Amino acid sequence: MTKLKTAFFCQNCGVQAPKWMGKCNACGEWNTFVEEVIQREEKGTPGSAVRDPRSVAPVRISDVTFSHEARINTHDQELNRVLGGGLVPGSLTLIGGEPGIGKSTLMLQVAIKCYGQKILYITGEESDQQIRMRAERLGIKNDNCFILTETNTQSIFQHLESLKPGIIIADSIQTLQTDLIESSAGSVSQIKECAAEMQKYSKHTNTPVFLIGHITKDGSLAGPKILEHMVDTVLQFEGDRNYGYRILRSLKNRFGSTSELGIYEMNDAGLREVSNPSEILLSQRDEAVSGIAIAAMMEGQRSMLIETQALVSTAVYGTPQRSTTGFDARRLNMLLAVLEKRSGFRLGHKDVFLNIAGGIKVEDPAIDLAVVAAVLSSNQDTPIDSKTCFAAEVGLSGEIRPINRVEQRISEADKLGFDRIFISRYNTKGLDFKRYSIQIVPVAKIEEVYGKLFS
Ligand code: TYD
Ligand code: MG
Repeated sequence: MTKLKTAFFCQNCGVQAPKWMGKCNACGEWNTFVEEVIQREEKGTPGSAVRDPRSVAPVRISDVTFSHEARINTHDQELNRVLGGGLVPGSLTLIGGEPGIGKSTLMLQVAIKCYGQKILYITGEESDQQIRMRAERLGIKNDNCFILTETNTQSIFQHLESLKPGIIIADSIQTLQTDLIESSAGSVSQIKECAAEMQKYSKHTNTPVFLIGHITKDGSLAGPKILEHMVDTVLQFEGDRNYGYRILRSLKNRFGSTSELGIYEMNDAGLREVSNPSEILLSQRDEAVSGIAIAAMMEGQRSMLIETQALVSTAVYGTPQRSTTGFDARRLNMLLAVLEKRSGFRLGHKDVFLNIAGGIKVEDPAIDLAVVAAVLSSNQDTPIDSKTCFAAEVGLSGEIRPINRVEQRISEADKLGFDRIFISRYNTKGLDFKRYSIQIVPVAKIEEVYGKLFS
């Protein structure tokens, strides 16, 4: 009989300690240590379930063979983009997100859309009938997509050996369980070992593997830090459940940029790729309404136009209310103070409500000018022409400040048929006005914007 070896693991950050502790030294969380069995020693290191068929002799880097067009097309343009141009063979990708956000739907959709590849969808969360029902809803048929309801990695690897799939999806990493570790599924040491086995399999057979992972209350992947360094790519699927939009972000990518972003819309037939985000962020309206201004903003590398709505009304109570959705409330207060102090608009006794359309949270400072314009328009009760948009930051002295990637924003507005874009005067250096059919209006002060909009 071998002696069982145990250790204590922080269930939040995965730190290992020989003794129980009340507070984790690494992440500062309280009461997160749980004792877990870390296998009898002779069975060895993590990932030892898969034997290594490769030779381990060092090779010259120039002798390592690879092919240029190695990327696999997932037939999902948004996912391809976020992955950096397609799926890299032998890569391990972790997809995280809150329960119910649509991770399983996304991956199942990828599984059945990927023609020409044998795909195995391993699930420990749902039965095969449930998956089939979901696949029916998505309405795509594919004879090369296989479902395996199994959580034990040793039997999974047996199936993998006979099936030899081209792409593997494991839903979810928290339900997988290996025989080598005695603790329960979902514990830190299980997650670590299962991910290590998957990684080893993926690297040896050059098969891309997707792992789906749940997110904990505070928004991090459960058992996250331990996985983040093991996998090649970490994707996060997020969105507001009250709106249909979902955003796929890359938090880490060994094969591409992390500023890429994919946008989907959840409807009753699954997730629809949104290739032109402005279409959902601009509301369709027939009549001109005051308090609406369009901003040309950037989310990662993508430019999109988004609607900001403001409502300014006389305060009913002594203290005026300021409320925002999708925009930093402190920033709104700052902009209102600038309007009051620098430009002389009396807003101190008014309620101001601000809303960014589509349930999107915007951090791009370039939306400032649109916010200011929307507030002024509502205060004035004069609509802004619906073909006008804005892209500039507003500084504390009321100056209109330059922003990055102004050309990309102008092109996007131009492409979408806008007539006029307001930008900072300091952004016009090197800008070729003749390249665009949209009229570019350089401004330096809020008063100038006001004059051009409302007189
Ligand atoms: P799911 O993929 O199960 O989420 P996760 O795996 O991240 O927990 O998605 C569940 C949600 O998606 C569910 O609330 C219903 C919604 N949904 C649709 O709106 N349309 C569809 O066609 C499908 C399959 C799901
Ligand atoms: Mg799921």
